[in-house]
Amino acid sequence: MSHEPPNVTDAVAKDVNRRQFGANASNYATSVVHAKGASLARLVELVEPQSDWAALDVASAAGHTAFTFAPHVASVVATDLTPEMVALASDRANELGLDNVTTQIADAESLPFDDDTFDLVTCRIAPHHFPNPDTFVSEVARVLRPAGVFAMVDNVVPDDAAVAQTYNDWERRRDPSHIEALSMDRWEAFCRAAGMSVTHAETAPKRMGFQFWVDNMSVPENERPGLLHDLLNASDDVRAFLQPSGDAIDNAEFVLTEGLIVAANS
Ligand SMILES: C[S@@+](CC[C@H](N)C(=O)[O-])C[C@H]1O[C@@H](n2cnc3c(N)ncnc32)[C@H](O)[C@@H]1O
Repeated sequence: MSHEPPNVTDAVAKDVNRRQFGANASNYATSVVHAKGASLARLVELVEPQSDWAALDVASAAGHTAFTFAPHVASVVATDLTPEMVALASDRANELGLDNVTTQIADAESLPFDDDTFDLVTCRIAPHHFPNPDTFVSEVARVLRPAGVFAMVDNVVPDDAAVAQTYNDWERRRDPSHIEALSMDRWEAFCRAAGMSVTHAETAPKRMGFQFWVDNMSVPENERPGLLHDLLNASDDVRAFLQPSGDAIDNAEFVLTEGLIVAANS
């Protein structure tokens, strides 16, 4: 299959991603949300990985998802767009003695692998950074073997377009590499359009500390009060989605929604 070169806008967006994650790579090794999130165990439970499987993890960052699956499969390729993340994942895999994990730089929208290569493709808390998520899902279907399994987790938005836009705009002010969190319906439609059938879909709340949320992306101090103000003073519909609590940077919390989808390739 041939790959169209990304347009300029996509290239710029991906450059922002590399810079943003390159500068904050070490935060992702220790981030509790990423290292200990409940969705890691839930993915393994739902996927039921097999010991002879070749797995690919897309947008691995510090490698938490790849390393969770590694003991259950024959091999895992942990990939990411950001060179600093790939280097970090490689170092951590060595430290952990995971000798069936290899690492590689890869763009989720143009995966550098042959058709029908993997039994499992995972991607967790990353697709909201991809400019063309439908292209990503097509690429997953391409590199998966027939009947191979795609398992993804990402922050999702409700169907209400106004709430979705307010949330995405607010996230982008914290993290310029945030492109768009999508609804479950959109993700399921992308899977079907790529020839996969969705075998499981669920959502789960994820409580976030405001301080952690801004620290993890090194948000400048002078921008934090405005982000907090807009969270606490959002419309009723947005508040119903984000469920803010607290009244200060060090005690405010809110709830994100993680969507988990498992799909089987045709
Ligand atoms: C929040 S982190 C992922 C967390 C990780 N999957 C985990 O389970 O801990 C997001 C990652 O997406 C990567 N990323 C962003 N755009 C990408 C793209 N187009 N292709 C591959 N990786 C990308 C970033 O470099 C970053 O490392």
